[in-house]
Parts: sequence; C-alpha cells; structure tokens
Amino acid sequence: MAVITNIEDLKRIYERRVPRMFYDYAESGSWTEQTFRENSSDFDLIRLRQRVAVDMSGRSTASQMVGQDVAMPVALAPVGLTGMQNADGEIKAARAANEFGVPFTLSTMSINSIEEVAEATGRPFWFQLYTMRDTDYTSRLIQRAKAAKCSALVITLDLQILGQRHKDLKNGLSAPPKLTPRTIANLMTKWAWGIEMLGAKRRNFGNIVGHVQGVSDNANLGAWTAEQFDPTLDWGKVAKLMEQWDGKVILKGILDAEDAKMAAKLGADAIVVSNHGGRQLDGALSSIRVLPEIMDAVGGDIEVHLDSGIRSGQDVLKALALGAKGTMIGRAFVYGLGAMGQAGVTKALEVIHRELDVTMALCGEKNVADLGRHNLLVPEDFGGRWA
Ligand SMILES: Cc1cc2nc3c(=O)[nH]c(=O)nc-3n(C[C@H](O)[C@H](O)[C@H](O)COP(=O)(O)O)c2cc1C
Repeated sequence: MAVITNIEDLKRIYERRVPRMFYDYAESGSWTEQTFRENSSDFDLIRLRQRVAVDMSGRSTASQMVGQDVAMPVALAPVGLTGMQNADGEIKAARAANEFGVPFTLSTMSINSIEEVAEATGRPFWFQLYTMRDTDYTSRLIQRAKAAKCSALVITLDLQILGQRHKDLKNGLSAPPKLTPRTIANLMTKWAWGIEMLGAKRRNFGNIVGHVQGVSDNANLGAWTAEQFDPTLDWGKVAKLMEQWDGKVILKGILDAEDAKMAAKLGADAIVVSNHGGRQLDGALSSIRVLPEIMDAVGGDIEVHLDSGIRSGQDVLKALALGAKGTMIGRAFVYGLGAMGQAGVTKALEVIHRELDVTMALCGEKNVADLGRHNLLVPEDFGGRWA
C-alpha cells in the first residue's frame, strides 16, 4: 500500500478511484478558475517565522469552535454529493470527524439524509442550510435538523445562484450518474467504487427526494438549483431563519468587511470567510487575502472561521495566526474519502493535524491559541491596493 504523507497523495489515489464526473465536480472552480487557484497560491505568499531554543514539550492543538471543544480548529465543510465520492460518504466522513474530535457539517445537498447521518453516528453534527423558494420546505429542513440534535446551523449565503463550472455541464453531472456511453466507459474503470456504491443506503439527494414535490431521482443539479434556490434571500430573511433555529448560527460565504459587519450585527455566533472554494464568483479575492481586513472590521465582535484553499496544516496555521478562530476543509477531506473511505478522511485529518502541530513547534509555539501575526511574514502589499 502506498505511503501517504500529504493531502496531494490522497488526491492522486482519489483521481484514480472515483468516476471522472465526481472528481471533476470537486476539482473545479467557476469559469476561468482564477479564484480557485488563488485560494491556494495566496497561502504560499505568506511565510513563517522560525524560532529556536523554545521548550516545545506539551503542545496542544485543542481549541473551541462556537463554544464546542475541538481536537484542532478544523471542521469538515459542507460538501454536496459527498455520498457520490464514496458509498454512504456523509456517514463515513461524520464518523471520521467524530472519532477525531472535529465538527462535521452535513450539506443540504448531501446524499445521506439528516436522519440517516444522525442515526448512524449518534453524535451531534452541524447542518448547512440552503434556502429554497418553498419556505415551508426550508422550515421543515430546519425542524429536521433540530430534531436530529444538530449542534449548529450553517447558513450559506454565497449560493443563491449557481456559479458555472464548465466541466459539470459537459459531464452532465447528476446523482446517480446518468448512463451514457461515455459514463459507462468511465465507470468500467472504477469497479471498486461501483461495487461499494451498489451497497449504499442511498444514491440520490437524501434531504430532498421525497421531501419536495416534483424532484426526480436523477436530479440535474444546475437546473434544480435554478428552479428551487431562493433568489430573494436578504439580511431580513437571514434574521428570520436565525429566529427559527434559536441555537448556534454560523453564516458562511462572507468575503467583504461590510457583509461581515452585517453578520455581526445580526448576532450570528460565527462567520466563515469563504468564496465557496472558488466555485462561485470567479475573480473574487482569495479568502486568506481578505481575512486581515475582515478581522480588522469585526474581529472583536464575532468569531471568524475561514475556508477555501486549505491543503495543509501550514495553511491552517496561517489562517489562525491571522486571527481566525477556526477553519474548514472541503476538498482536502473529499480526496481522502474518495481515496479510502472513512480511513481516508481520518488520514486527511491526521496529515493536517501533524503538519499543524510540527509547524507550530518550529514556530516556537505550544498552543494554537498563542498563534498570532508575530509567527508570520506577510508581504506588505498582501491585502493588495484595490481601488
Ligand atoms: C464538491 C464541493 C461541493 C460543495 N458543496 C457545498 C454545499 O453543498 N454547501 C456549502 O455551503 N458549500 C459547499 N461547498 C463549499 C465548501 O463548503 C467549502 O466552502 C469549500 O470546499 C472550501 O474550499 P476548499 O475545498 O478549497 O477547502 C462545496 C465545495 C466542493 C468542493
């Protein structure tokens, strides 16, 4: 068996194992993919300050996110169609997260339903909400998440309309995959994936099929989103959703200081600085680049998390040192899941944890709470001069 030492290793196995349609779905950004690329390359612009002769014994990456204890401040981000990357993928990822001691976030667009994940794991997870035109359905989703004892509601604000990813259109992305000569030819080379998938609890959108009228099994994601997602979502509606939940609320998809201030004013428990992994507004700045400005605007008022582009523990450390209290990983855990199922998600978390811990030690720090701007070398013009 291959020796896996970093997230890139998992990605290589993932690419071999999973049908092209689902690999492409995860491994794309919108339009030119500029923001998708810069999410990662901007992390590389920040360097670390090496410190020596500091007692590095007794280190800890333990922290809290929205008041919940975490083994490290890295949550699994909501990822639609996770159960197409590997059979019952949401259940496997949630189990890996539980065992590791980090939060798992279930997407509205998951394959395994809220109830299936709750039953299989028996532990609280976070639920990510997309708001639909059908307000009764949205309210029912919130009630279902409450009944399943989800410990935070993550409301995603940056996808009222779907950013175009060329490959998904060309591949005719659907769950389960439509059988065309091209998909059949590709599936023939992914037999291990297929055999596991035959035994899956579910192969369609578990939170939707059977809960919304007129949604067929073979939902086309783009068309469905255009028909169902609520284009009128505004801050007033966000406030109403928060009232319906009356628990911890995380607002995800904030990339602008003004929006961060609005989120803080509404009384959310945290925001996620995110551009949806470069899948929505192509041409937007990377998350890590806007983080300092957002920290200046709301750092004292609200807990700030960051995602988009994290592929290593060094990336996590950089986000924390710039002020984020927590981070989320999307593709990094999907690679692990597609490569090796639950064990692969555990592997991804282990890799990132080890990188975070060793990097912290070499920066002369013993505790994630002590990380700060003093650990970094940030280019003077990192925020950029944008008029
Ligand atoms: C394949 C894929 C599907 C996603 N689906 C959702 C989703 O259903 N809901 C959501 O809020 N974010 C979704 N996201 C965005 C992630 O939650 C997260 O913001 C992003 O993956 C972070 O970037 P990273 O993949 O570079 O870590 C998705 C991302 C990917 C890659």
